[in-house]
Amino acid sequence: MSSDTVTLRRPDDWHVHLRDGALLQAVLPFTARAFARAIIMPNLVPPVTSVAAAEAYRGRILAALPPGLDFTPLTTAYLTDDSDPAEIERGFRAGIFAAVKLYPAHATTNSAQGVTDIARTYRVLERMAALGMPLLVHGEVTDPDIDVFDREAVFIERVLAPLIRRLPQLKIVLEHITTKEAADFVAAAGETLAATVTAHHLLINRNALFAGGLRPHMYCLPVAKRETHRLALRRAATSGNAKFFLGTDTAPHPIADKERDCGCAGIFAAPAALEIYAQVFAEEKALDRFEAFASLNGPRFYGMPANERRITLARRPWRVPATVPTAAGPLRPFLAGEEIAWRLLP
Ligand code: DOR
Ligand code: ZN
Repeated sequence: MSSDTVTLRRPDDWHVHLRDGALLQAVLPFTARAFARAIIMPNLVPPVTSVAAAEAYRGRILAALPPGLDFTPLTTAYLTDDSDPAEIERGFRAGIFAAVKLYPAHATTNSAQGVTDIARTYRVLERMAALGMPLLVHGEVTDPDIDVFDREAVFIERVLAPLIRRLPQLKIVLEHITTKEAADFVAAAGETLAATVTAHHLLINRNALFAGGLRPHMYCLPVAKRETHRLALRRAATSGNAKFFLGTDTAPHPIADKERDCGCAGIFAAPAALEIYAQVFAEEKALDRFEAFASLNGPRFYGMPANERRITLARRPWRVPATVPTAAGPLRPFLAGEEIAWRLLP
């Protein structure tokens, strides 16, 4: 490894929104070009709550995969107040549910059928703890009295910490962390708690939402926080601590849905996400820890083998496309039109 190239085992993306239909068709190649496996979020309309729905969704993903790309989708279950422990267990044992996703009701895109009170899901969570099945958490409270920038920190205090005290054996991934509070909490917790970190939260702080005007393509949930938090995330991700791993939260919405009154939350990061992470690790002089973050820590937490094949990224500038066409209208990628210093070699 020179300072201009880095070779690592093929990485996995532990948090991806692939959508369905025309969007799935258009966005899947961007994830599958860079990642061997991905945890696929279940917040479709209707959400993926049954084994049969997840099996069918996995079939549609595999059918949309361009020939020659070696990619394994790891589908998940959408937790509701009414989820049945037996159905969750059946999906896990069949290899159809790699994990369960907890959306607090109304926290984000397509979360209306999410959990209204965590106590209603204890029977499922107890079963998952016994099985060693991971719970993936969107960690934000939805109480309108809580400032939007405080929702993650308050969730940790009011929901996550009590849950861990109640079920210390349950494996939990706090997804897309955005605060120093989250990074510190995860680092201090036991081995059963880990976190994913997105590329965009390593790059932008909340100023990006208002730079020269309102920037809908920088809007995601949890929303980017102050600079102190971004710096804490960069330290955590590049620290070598095995509790932090790669999850892009790539979340495409057609430009028309982002740029309207009440635009959708979500950043379409997949076209440049792996390269942005490489750039961040290079900037932090931590390229020697990039493989752990991108390719080793995630599989270890999920109890899966790391990928065998290797990829190489090199310092070779390229430009992110301005738009990505789809049959549902064009998408605007994260950093559209901007130059990226690192490139994944073919
Ligand atoms: O920004 C986001 N977009 N955050 C989420 O939690 C969901 C996602 C989506 O599905 O669009
Ligand atoms: Zn997400």
